[in-house]
Amino acid sequence: MNKEQLYANFYDLEYKNKKDDVDFYYKLAQKVDGPILECGCGTGRILAPIARSGKEIWGFDINTAMLEIAKKKIETLKVKKVKIFQDDLIKFYSPLLKNKQFTFIFLSFDSLAYLAQKDGTYYTPRETRKRQHEALRNIVKHLDKNGLFAFDLFSPNDLSKEYIIRHHFSRVIKNETWSLSSAVQVPEEHIFQIHYFMEILKMDGSIKRWHYPVSAYQSTFLEIQSLLDEVGLRPVKVYGDFNLKPYKPSSEQMIFICRKK
Ligand SMILES: C[S@@+](CC[C@H](N)C(=O)[O-])C[C@H]1O[C@@H](n2cnc3c(N)ncnc32)[C@H](O)[C@@H]1O
Repeated sequence: MNKEQLYANFYDLEYKNKKDDVDFYYKLAQKVDGPILECGCGTGRILAPIARSGKEIWGFDINTAMLEIAKKKIETLKVKKVKIFQDDLIKFYSPLLKNKQFTFIFLSFDSLAYLAQKDGTYYTPRETRKRQHEALRNIVKHLDKNGLFAFDLFSPNDLSKEYIIRHHFSRVIKNETWSLSSAVQVPEEHIFQIHYFMEILKMDGSIKRWHYPVSAYQSTFLEIQSLLDEVGLRPVKVYGDFNLKPYKPSSEQMIFICRKK
C-alpha cells in the first residue's frame, strides 16, 4: 500500500460513523428527480447511501486511492445508475461529463477548502480563491436550469487551539495497531496545514510511520457570498450546522443550498 492508499484507508476508518452530513445530503437527494453529481466524493461515504436508495448518482474525485475504496463500496451494492471516475474540480475534463446536466450537485465535508493543494503543490490564498472560482463555474455549467447545488465548509471560527495537536484514533486491524494523529500549522493567513501522522505497529514490535500533510483554505462567509454571486449562484438557504440552525457569525459551519440566478 502506498502513502495515498494508506491515508485513504485511515480517512475511511475515521469518518465511518460521521452521519450528520450524510443525512443532510441524503434527504436533499431524495427530494430531487434527476441525475445527481457529487464532486470530490472521496471514499463514497455520502455517495454510497444515496446510490443504495436507487438514485442515479455520479461521483468523481482527484484522488484515485479514495476512489478505489468508493468503487468497492458501490460494487457490493449491485446498483446500476452509478458512475465513479477520476476528475479535477478545476477542469471537469472527463468525457463522461460532456453535455451532461445534473438536477442536484453537491460538494461535501469542506471539499472546497481542499483546493488549496493538488498533489505536492500548495497554492497561495489568491491562487486558491481563483481555483475555487473555477470549480464553482464548472459546477454551474453542469447544473440544470432549476437544479440545486449544496455544499458545506467549516467556518473560520472552528480553528480553535484544541486542533493544534489531535489524536484521532488507534484501532487493531488484523493484528496490527493503526494509529492516526495530527498537528495543525498556520503558515499564512487563511491557510492551515494538517500534518497527519499515520502509524502501524505490528505484532513483532516493528513500527512504520508516515507523514501526510494536507493544506486547506479558510474562506470567510463574505468571500463565499461574493464567489457565489460571481459565478451566477444564489443561496436559498444558509445553515450554521447540520441541525439546520440558521447561519450566524459564531456558527461552526457554513452550509449553503443554492440555485442558479
Ligand atoms: C474532506 S474530503 C471529503 C470527501 C467526501 N466528500 C466525504 O464527505 O467524505 C475532500 C475531498 O476532496 C477531494 N479533492 C481535493 N481537490 C480536488 C480536486 N481538485 N478535484 C476533485 N476532488 C478534489 C479530495 O481528494 C478528497 O477526497
